[in-house]
Amino acid sequence: MHKEYLNANDSMEDKPIGFFDSGVGGLSVLKEAIKILPNEDYIYFGDSKNAPYGVKSVAEVKALSFQAVEFLIKHKVKAIVVACNTATSVAIEDLRRHYSNIPIIGIEPALKPAVEINDGGKIVIMATPMTLSEKKFACLMEKYKYKAEIVPLPCAGLVEYIEKGIVQGEELNNFLKDKFSHLIYNEISSVVLGCTHYPFIKEELNKVLGEKVKVIDGSLGTAAQLKRLITEKNTRNKKKSMGEVQIFNSLEDEYIIKISKKLLEG
Ligand code: DGL
Repeated sequence: MHKEYLNANDSMEDKPIGFFDSGVGGLSVLKEAIKILPNEDYIYFGDSKNAPYGVKSVAEVKALSFQAVEFLIKHKVKAIVVACNTATSVAIEDLRRHYSNIPIIGIEPALKPAVEINDGGKIVIMATPMTLSEKKFACLMEKYKYKAEIVPLPCAGLVEYIEKGIVQGEELNNFLKDKFSHLIYNEISSVVLGCTHYPFIKEELNKVLGEKVKVIDGSLGTAAQLKRLITEKNTRNKKKSMGEVQIFNSLEDEYIIKISKKLLEG
């Protein structure tokens, strides 16, 4: 139980909403949240110093997720969005158990909408090696594997481009071509972005695969879930003006804040 969260003098609805990710990726989720909850204040914590999470051990990612949540709780947030598929996969249950008095929203690959619009082609799920090897993903696969041909595609190395602010260009294009080289493009009906960094390279991905391939990400679904939860709890900010966004990063380097702002505003 966290006393900082339970300070009776503070009005819950005026408190900010906390977001965290292994780095700049979760800003793709924050962007969607701002669209549907513009009057809220937000605190974003990117753990770029420790990115990427997806190739670390489960114990390390769990520990880092707890550190990130502690940081947000110190900033007196009223809800937390784990804007990272990898951290959600390995830590969300423990986080919810430990911080049982604060709503914690996670993200997972948006397989359901991909299956719903599928026209018989393959559904490729791009994600970190950790997301694809965890129990949460196995359960998701179990649910949908008879409804479509689903191809998990671990993309180690991709997060690093986005962390550097590289979201287009020849090098990235070649990286993506290489990742998809064992697949026949016109057999792919959709690609699910199972990592919050990937929406930022959507354009380059469409250049590689063609415009016909539908690219699906779960950011909007997660933002909608956040809206539902704070509405239900009656903690929506009532102010009429636009909210504020504060961005923090474990790298403590102005450069990463600049990249973050560019991604958020771009
Ligand atoms: N944005 C994280 C995710 O959604 C990236 C993980 C990583 O740092 O490897 O999985």
